[in-house]
Amino acid sequence: MSARVVTVAQQKGGAGKTTLLVQLATALAAEGRKVAVVDIDPQATLTGWMRIREHEARSVPELRFAMVGGWRLGVELDRLVREVELVLVDTPPHAESEAKGAVRRADLVLVPCQPSPADLWASRATFDLAAKEARPARLVWMRVPPRGRAVEEARAAVARAGWPVAAAELANRQAYVASFAKGLGVVEAEPKGAAAQEVRALVRELAALL
Ligand SMILES: Nc1ncnc2c1ncn2[C@@H]1O[C@H](COP(=O)(O)OP(=O)(O)O)[C@@H](O)[C@H]1O
Ligand SMILES: [Mg+2]
Repeated sequence: MSARVVTVAQQKGGAGKTTLLVQLATALAAEGRKVAVVDIDPQATLTGWMRIREHEARSVPELRFAMVGGWRLGVELDRLVREVELVLVDTPPHAESEAKGAVRRADLVLVPCQPSPADLWASRATFDLAAKEARPARLVWMRVPPRGRAVEEARAAVARAGWPVAAAELANRQAYVASFAKGLGVVEAEPKGAAAQEVRALVRELAALL
């Protein structure tokens, strides 16, 4: 059977695309899954994390990795889906055309979104794109503060828009930033921490969807 493809997409830069992808990839690999990560973002943040992982991280599961231009993604995916169980694709903050190919090939599109008006406005473009390509999509709340009016308003706005939302959320935690800097995920750097629990909950939820 060929691998499932999960594309992480969101028009807004800094929403948490690369963070989300890295955390999911490492948590899945820790469960023994064969995972590939693909960077089509010219900013190459995922590529930078992968370099650190390859050079400094010791005794961690191997991740297959490819950095390709968006136009070459199809060819790369054709190859990777035969070699692994799951492929995660990291995308640039998109003008529609750039992310289209990655969304089109996805079995599931994840849309990381911080509880802020700017992230919410930008999410619409990604959900519209996923709908146009008839791909299922889930919003994943990122950097959620413990409580507050802004969070409640953001949740209400998403409910009004009718976008499907993952129940598991990633809170605003230094653990995500610190693990990234070491080429690790939180399940590797702090396996007993609250962040690792959040990521594992999200993995369980996504496994049921895929
Ligand atoms: N859940 C989180 N908690 C704390 N910081 C986060 C979280 N998610 C993302 N960040 C930080 O936000 C910034 C942007 O995240 P990044 O994943 O690079 O976004 P994108 O790939 O969408 O541009 C980074 O500095 C990252 O460390
Ligand atoms: Mg990124």
